[in-house]
Amino acid sequence: MSFEFSDEFDFENRIMDTSEIPEDTADGDNPLRPKTLDEYIGQEKVKENLRVFIQAAKQRNETLDHVLLYGPPGLGKTTLAAIIAKEMGVSIRITSGPAIEKPGDLASILTNLNTGDVLFIDEIHRLSRAVEEVLYPAMEDFAIDIITGKGQMAASYHLPLPRFTLVGATTRAGQLTAPLRDRFGVVLRLELYTPQELAMIIERSAEILSIGIEHDGALEIASRSRGTPRIANRLLKRVRDFAQVMSDGVITRETAKIALDRLEIDNLGLDRNDRRMLEAIIKFYAGGPVGVETLAAAIGEEAVTIEDVYEPYLLQIGFLSRTPRGRCVTAEAYKHLGCKMPGETGNSQPNLFD
Ligand code: ADE
Repeated sequence: MSFEFSDEFDFENRIMDTSEIPEDTADGDNPLRPKTLDEYIGQEKVKENLRVFIQAAKQRNETLDHVLLYGPPGLGKTTLAAIIAKEMGVSIRITSGPAIEKPGDLASILTNLNTGDVLFIDEIHRLSRAVEEVLYPAMEDFAIDIITGKGQMAASYHLPLPRFTLVGATTRAGQLTAPLRDRFGVVLRLELYTPQELAMIIERSAEILSIGIEHDGALEIASRSRGTPRIANRLLKRVRDFAQVMSDGVITRETAKIALDRLEIDNLGLDRNDRRMLEAIIKFYAGGPVGVETLAAAIGEEAVTIEDVYEPYLLQIGFLSRTPRGRCVTAEAYKHLGCKMPGETGNSQPNLFD
């Protein structure tokens, strides 16, 4: 049984979307992005470790070992890569797995790096096998083998490269091939942010953008931002619009609440799409278990989007559990959505015979 939700899904205009939009990266220089580790809020473990690795590499006058950053989208992987480059005092070259189509594309990027530079490859799990084959010796021996011509005219050149630091980012470390994963000396996992950390990020952003905000207002936005700074900063801008039109422009808890309710983002940060996904599991699969592919077909969404975008937060707040047989909606989620659990009668009187 398959149900088409696509008409009702608001994919085009998803304010809670975690993918980058031009607004996030205006001119490639988003003023909200922290530039140093000291400015970067949250991810304390990652920062502490990075500080040590960076200081040690600098003391030894070496390039930093290759770094793999993984975790859900919108948590600041690109930002951290830029910070690593800045703290090391080198340049950064930014690209992504899908953008490097052929081995030659990678060879041209690598041969144009300067010693110590950071090469940032976003979505590194999407590199083709052929490109990966070029990356292995580049990472390990700082050299590539280039083959030109065909048949009798074929020739192979061994080209030394400058020592560089590869910073790879992925939403799914499990999808990396073992040989690629093993070539990263530093592997760091980014976690969803706490509401307190997000409130600090929102207050910092508000100051940069000259937006008046009370601490309670920041906390209200933070608690509905799904643990994700990219969403928090986007919601801050939208709530500012409401505060400006509805009152004196200063964001208070009240204006934040009204604005976020109007945007249909509930008190836990779930938007219509999150609720529809949970409701689909409840209605059509009796709360689960349901396989991610089946669910994806039912709601007209890609399985990877469900796994990367919807699930991390729903798992974190305990609304969804992953079992070997598929996804299950938890009792907490039933309660939040105001749905009855299977077998629940709706009679709230205590059962005297229990
Ligand atoms: N803006 C986005 N992410 C941030 C972070 N982790 N710290 C400070 N500002 C941010």
